[in-house]
Amino acid sequence: MNMKQIPVITIDGPSGSGKGTVSQLLAIDLGWNILDSGALYRTLAYYLKKEKISLENFLDKKEQVKKAFEVNFDVGTIGEPVRVFFQGKDITQHVRTEEMARETSILAADPLIRDFIRPCQKEFRRLPGLVADGRDMGTVIFPEANIKIYLTASLEERASRRYRQLKTVDSKVNMRILLDKLAERDKIDKERDHSPLKPAEDSLVIDTTNLNPWKVLEEIKRIASGEI
Ligand code: C5P
Repeated sequence: MNMKQIPVITIDGPSGSGKGTVSQLLAIDLGWNILDSGALYRTLAYYLKKEKISLENFLDKKEQVKKAFEVNFDVGTIGEPVRVFFQGKDITQHVRTEEMARETSILAADPLIRDFIRPCQKEFRRLPGLVADGRDMGTVIFPEANIKIYLTASLEERASRRYRQLKTVDSKVNMRILLDKLAERDKIDKERDHSPLKPAEDSLVIDTTNLNPWKVLEEIKRIASGEI
């Protein structure tokens, strides 16, 4: 079967826009596979740090990284983040910190890293379909996707969502610092030269500031019913 016949819905947007939760709800609802591309980048950052591989020697170590880079997701349960497995081990807690997110966004701006991750992402396109969550899913990775969604929300609302998520794993999390960190990460992701965060021209932009994830899901399903 031609890969391009396998349906894809892309959900892009900045951190805290609701794309993780909405992608999870949609994947569960449709019974489709999920690609949490941010978690792929985070896992690569985690592995490179653990192995002390820097960007400077990434090319020399590329074959080693390729062999080791075995990542899987478990869509999990609603309200819990999608679980990330590296070489069969659950590393969710290690990669879902704001500290790791910051290191990841610096790494993810490099074309070497993006070239490495690109084919890994495409492998997730399996039957019956794929919900792809990220920053460049609709613009670069799956430009032919059936439906492209771009979620956004005010910085304050996004920070307070991240605050509630992080509070469950880190009691020291501080709202003011978090707000600054999110703004800094948005800037890196939007201003980078390679695959910057922006809505695809043919995407539907949904502002989720005052919407709960189920409302967003309803809206996407309404659009999807005429498309797939
Ligand atoms: O979505 P999440 O917050 O897990 O992503 C972490 C970081 O990974 C982002 O801030 C971004 O720099 C990078 N990323 C990316 N392209 C994607 C997904 C994530 O550059 N498709």
